[in-house]
Amino acid sequence: MGDICSHKATTIRFHFISSLHLLDCVSYNGLMPTVSFLKKRAAFEVQEGANLMESLLSSGHPVASSCHGDGVCAKCKITVVSGAKNLSAENPTEEFLREKHNLPANVRISCQVQIKGDIVVDATYW
Ligand code: FES
Repeated sequence: MGDICSHKATTIRFHFISSLHLLDCVSYNGLMPTVSFLKKRAAFEVQEGANLMESLLSSGHPVASSCHGDGVCAKCKITVVSGAKNLSAENPTEEFLREKHNLPANVRISCQVQIKGDIVVDATYW
């Protein structure tokens, strides 16, 4: 992956929702996974299999990084509030970074993760 500007565009539709209880992994059309935020009243849909970091960046949400998705820095870590089963399994790169940085199980290295279903996420800087 190159710099942030070279990330592939991901099909995203925004939904501004009026109540936080709607953030609990509600799928809006039943066809595309929805990414919702713990502290923001917003959500967006992505193609199944989309990369989590690329999807967040494409939707206008900043993701910390110094390696631009090369799986080196672990700064792109994102807390998965719910829907953890709707993300791809850890690959060896993420396993290495989790052990190296002592990350809890609900924190994922977003540049290494594909979205398979609805999730609710959080980051300290959102
Ligand atoms: S962006 Fe560096 S490990 Fe994900």
